[in-house]
Amino acid sequence: MTAEYKVHGDVAVITMTNPPVNGLGYSTRVGITDGLAKALADDAVKAIVLTGAGKAFSGGADIKEFGTPKALQDPNLLSVILALEASTKPIVAAIHSVCMGGGLELALGCHYRVVAPGTNVALPEVKLGLIPGAGGTQRLPRVLGVEAALNMIVSGQAVKSELLASAPGQKLFDKLAASPESLFDEAVEFAKSVAAKGGDLPLVRNLPCKHPQGDAYFQFAKNMVGGMSKNFPAPLKCVEAVQAATQLKFDAGMAKEREIFIALMTTPESSALRHLFMAERAASKIPDVPEDTPQRPIKTVGVIGAGTMGGGITMNFLNAGIPVTMLEMKQEALDRGVATIKKNYEAQVKKGKLKHDKYEQRMALLSTTLDYAALKDCDLIIEAVFEELGVKEKVFTQLDEIAKQGAILASNTSTLDVDKIAAFTKRPQDVVGMHFFSPANVMKLLEVVRGKQTAKDVLATVMAVAKKIKKTAVVSGVCDGFIGNRMIEQYSRQAGFLLDEGATPQQVDKAIEKFGFAMGPFRMGDLAGNDIGWAIRKRRATERADMKYSRTADKLCELGRFGQKTGAGWYDYQAGKRDAIPSDLVNKMIEDHRKELGITPRKISDEEIVQRLVYALVNEGAHILEDGIASKSGDIDMVYLTGYGFPMHRGGPMHYASQVGLYNVAETMKRFAKNPRDDAAFWQPAPLIQKLVAEGKTFS
Ligand code: NAI
Repeated sequence: MTAEYKVHGDVAVITMTNPPVNGLGYSTRVGITDGLAKALADDAVKAIVLTGAGKAFSGGADIKEFGTPKALQDPNLLSVILALEASTKPIVAAIHSVCMGGGLELALGCHYRVVAPGTNVALPEVKLGLIPGAGGTQRLPRVLGVEAALNMIVSGQAVKSELLASAPGQKLFDKLAASPESLFDEAVEFAKSVAAKGGDLPLVRNLPCKHPQGDAYFQFAKNMVGGMSKNFPAPLKCVEAVQAATQLKFDAGMAKEREIFIALMTTPESSALRHLFMAERAASKIPDVPEDTPQRPIKTVGVIGAGTMGGGITMNFLNAGIPVTMLEMKQEALDRGVATIKKNYEAQVKKGKLKHDKYEQRMALLSTTLDYAALKDCDLIIEAVFEELGVKEKVFTQLDEIAKQGAILASNTSTLDVDKIAAFTKRPQDVVGMHFFSPANVMKLLEVVRGKQTAKDVLATVMAVAKKIKKTAVVSGVCDGFIGNRMIEQYSRQAGFLLDEGATPQQVDKAIEKFGFAMGPFRMGDLAGNDIGWAIRKRRATERADMKYSRTADKLCELGRFGQKTGAGWYDYQAGKRDAIPSDLVNKMIEDHRKELGITPRKISDEEIVQRLVYALVNEGAHILEDGIASKSGDIDMVYLTGYGFPMHRGGPMHYASQVGLYNVAETMKRFAKNPRDDAAFWQPAPLIQKLVAEGKTFS
């Protein structure tokens, strides 16, 4: 049992003891009901205090039980709350630190609530595509008022206890303790005083629940919420559940809440969000690097190259309060880099997103140099110079000479072999890839590239650094393109074949954007620069002659249409605007190319477009797992969700494929393999997929 029972004089204290946040798993629930039974059976006990040990009152459901039958095993949370309500002795919740989800619902089942200042209070279920399922939507409006409760339930955001406790007319908290330290004693005193007073025990369920504007308010709320949550059903369902609290008797409202909760539990959107929640936490864990691996202290950072990436990377550290020294070859390049950083910060100040003094504090952490000796004390040095192995060699040879013992030497290379880069030094164990995405100060994703010899404490340190600078870090092994770009190449290849076979860039973009991608492949190409892919394909022609490509993208580049930066790409652009305008010239170029190849264009359905693009990611992702480049499918999903605009409500390519069913995915791949215009070898389902299909399993 993960709850303790103790008696202090005539007050029984039930303490949840399920670290880290007293999740309400089966053993905690049993512990609470057990404690309650003891307290009720003991005549010497006059009142009960319910609290949590350690860092939380309770963070809610136990994530280890998520979606398993154990979550519903009796006593389930609903029955625990009913037992609390039925107690003939007053129960006081002593709430501190974290009171979220099921934890808040549990507290709302108690007769009284005493809270410590600074407590984070929330019903965050909406973030998992759900609504609160143990009375939260019915009880919170009764104690906070409909609007305040609905705001909390729809946003899932935490609100500080002192703010809630000071709201006029609120009945959520009966007392705000003077401090977290005095909470326990104050709660015990409070329990004694209510026991002494006697009389009926108050229950939240008996409070009235009304909004003065009635259904008109809820219509307004639905319009607002519906507009803001287009791919996600849960937020609107939150409104519906709270509305039920105002229309129905308490028990009928509870039944309505349950019905909505269960229906949401089986939606693909909730499944995707729960997957994301777990995958995000799992990404920071590396199978063979224990969590207690010692880390190297990172107090100062060096960045080499003050270009597009170097500047953005530098900002991440300045934002986190870590001093950075930026090194360049020429003073002009340094000046340009610093000016760009200033410009970015000033734009934030202008928009009111950054206070001026904060901006100054950040800039004060930045120094610049032309001399490698200035980096000799840096704990971490990140290289972001031109993407040429020869240039990297020069940089890493010099770093090896000047960097202090134990300094971590990182490369931001997007295509080069990190093991080769490590071999330029006599300390390959200290070398690692840190692949940021552009703009590096904005994009969440960081691929941490693990070389053959990268030391475990280097990996552990870099993962912790990533957290500090608020990135989602995913470990990738060394291969061409790492996880993200290796997969996107297959996606781009399919986009090219689709043009050859009869689609237009706008049709392809529209179909995949309707699926939920932020931007289709051709609009994306125009934004990032079509010349990047061109350079890669030229390199491929010598390195991997087996890789088949459509020639259309090369033809586009031969016309100088590199995208927005040249004013024309797959689309036309008007000066100063970013709207993609379909181009007659490009469409004619595609048609001419088809004629050259002797292809009669066919009508291609949006469904086929989506399947070919997404399943190309899936098949390559499966190969990446087979090759051990990624250690789990959730890592691949995190890369795509945080770095490539994959629609959040689909949960990432691998999760999506599991949802569609790997058998169906594999059968579709086999069908694509029969298309003579496509790449039959590529469309053989990866052995991992075939194995999972045979075993009736999914990626997760
Ligand atoms: P960039 O051309 O904007 O900046 C490179 C900077 O490095 C220039 O300012 C140049 O003066 C400086 N530099 C070159 N050689 C140097 C040396 N020996 N010592 C000191 N400074 C030197 O290039 P960008 O886009 O910032 O790329 C840098 C690295 O980041 C490349 O390895 C690239 O593959 C990688 N990368 C680029 C991404 C992008 O979207 N641009 C995304 C992820 C990685």
